[in-house]
Amino acid sequence: MTVAGPTFDLVVAANRLPVDVVVDAHGEGTWQRSPGGLVSAMEGAMADRGAAWVGWAGEPGLAPAPFYQGNLFMHPVSLTSVEVEEYYEGFSNDTLWPIYHDVIVQATFHRHWWNTYRTVNHRFAHAIAEVAAPGATVWVHDYQLQLVPAMVRAIRPDLRIGWFNHIPFPPVELFAQLPWRRALVEGLLGADFLGFQRTADAGNFLRSCRRLLGMSTRGDTVAFTPAGGEPASRTVRVSAIPISVDFRGLTALASTSKVLSRAADIRASLGDPEILMLGVDRLDYTKGIRHRLKAYGELLQDKSLAPPSVTLMQVAMPSRERVDAYRVLRDEVERTVGQINGEFEVLGSTPIHYLRHFYPREEMVAMFVAADIMLVTPLRDGMNLVAKEYVSCRNDLGGALVLSEFTGAWHELHQAFICNPHDIEGVKQTIMQAINTPEDERRRRMKAMRKRVADHDVQRWASNYLEALASAPSKPHRLTRASTRELRGVERANRANLRASDTASERIGT
Ligand code: G6P
Repeated sequence: MTVAGPTFDLVVAANRLPVDVVVDAHGEGTWQRSPGGLVSAMEGAMADRGAAWVGWAGEPGLAPAPFYQGNLFMHPVSLTSVEVEEYYEGFSNDTLWPIYHDVIVQATFHRHWWNTYRTVNHRFAHAIAEVAAPGATVWVHDYQLQLVPAMVRAIRPDLRIGWFNHIPFPPVELFAQLPWRRALVEGLLGADFLGFQRTADAGNFLRSCRRLLGMSTRGDTVAFTPAGGEPASRTVRVSAIPISVDFRGLTALASTSKVLSRAADIRASLGDPEILMLGVDRLDYTKGIRHRLKAYGELLQDKSLAPPSVTLMQVAMPSRERVDAYRVLRDEVERTVGQINGEFEVLGSTPIHYLRHFYPREEMVAMFVAADIMLVTPLRDGMNLVAKEYVSCRNDLGGALVLSEFTGAWHELHQAFICNPHDIEGVKQTIMQAINTPEDERRRRMKAMRKRVADHDVQRWASNYLEALASAPSKPHRLTRASTRELRGVERANRANLRASDTASERIGT
C-alpha cells in the first residue's frame, strides 16, 4: 500500500471538521477552530501524540487541501451537493435522526439516500486509512458514520477502532423499521469498542444485535463472526460513557471581568427583569422548544408570571434548514413567539426575546451567567451539553436548571428541577418551583451539580474512552493481501465518485 502524506497514531473522524471558514473584510477566508467541546476534549489526548481529524468542511464541492490547525492535522473529505442532500440532509438527518429520537417526526426512507450514505462512509473510511499510522487508534463519531468501523477494518485490520454515538440509540422496535438495520449493526461491529451516552442506549444496541441479527451477547460484549473476510469471530465491547464539557475552561471564562460585565449589560438591556429565563437550542424538533413556549405562554396567561418582572431569552441556532421538518418547526416556533409577544407585551417590555443566531462562546457564557432560570426541555436528547455548560458557568452558585427527564444529562444532574416536557402542567409547576425555591436550597443544588460535572469533565471522558478502547478485548490483525486489494478498490470507487461530482462547485480556501 502506498501512503502519501503524513500519518498519525490517533485519527478522529466526525461528519464535520472542528473548524469554520471565517471571511475577513478583503474576502479572504481563514480557518478558525469551532468552539465545540469535542476539540477541547481531544487536546489532552493529542498533546502526547500526533493526531489527525477527518471530516467534511461544511460546503459542497471539492475538499480543501489538508492543513494543520495548531498541532492537529485536518484532513477534509469532499461531499458533492447531491451527497449533501442525500447523505447529510437525507439519510443522516431525515432517516436516522428521527428514528433515533423516538420518531418525534416521521422518518423518510429512500433507497438512493442509503446508497449515497454508503458511498460517503466509504470515502471517510478511505480517508482514515490514508492518514492512520500502522497500528493507530481510530475514533469515529456519531450516527452519520455508522458503516465506517467495518469499512476501515476491511481496509486496515491493523487499526484499533472505536465509535461513539452522541445521540440516543433507539429501542429495537424503532430501529427495526430501518430496512438497512442489519448493515448498520454490522458496520458498527467493525469497531473494537462502541460507546453510548446512556446504559439504556448500550442496552438498546445489544438488544438489536440479539433480536434482529440473532447474535449472542454476554454482559457488555457481543460475539461477532463477520460473513466473509476475517476468519475468526471477534468480541466487541459496548458500554455507556457519557460525554461532558470543558468544566475548568468554562468556569475560568465565566469569572473573567469581561464576561461578568457583559452579563450585567445583557440584563440591563432587557430592562433588568427580576427573573431572566433562558433557552439555548439548535432549532430542532427534539429540543422541546414549542412545549416550553406553550408552558411559558400559559404562565403569562394565568398571571403566575408577568412582564416586565419576567422575560424569556430564547436563542435558536439555525440548523438543517433545507430539511422539511426543520422548516415546519421554525414556522411554528416563530408563529408562537409572535402570538405570545403580541398578546402579553407591554410597552418597553417584551415577554420573549427570540434570537435566531449563532453566538461566540464568550457571549454564550455571559448569557449563562446572566440567566436566573435555564430551561432545557428536550423531548429526547442524547446528552444535552447546554445543561452541563450552564452548570459549569455558575461559579457563583446562582441560577437554577429546569431539565427534561428525556435528556442524557438527567442521569447525572439529579439536583436539577426535573420535568416531563410533554406534561405542560408539570413544566409550568417545575418552572414556578425553580423560581420559588429558597436561595439556599438552589445554591445547594447547583453546588452538587457542579461537583458532578467537575469530576466528570470532557477531558476525563476522552481519556476514559481511549483507555476503554485500548483495553477492549479484540486483537489487532496484520494487513493482508485481501485488505490491500480492498483498499485499492475503495480508492478507485472514490476517484470515480469524485469525477462524477458536480465539478462546478467551488473550492473553498486551501
Ligand atoms: C448533534 C449531532 C452532531 C451534529 C450536531 C449539529 O449534536 O450529534 O453530530 O454535528 O448535532 O448538527 P449539524 O447537522 O449541523 O452537524
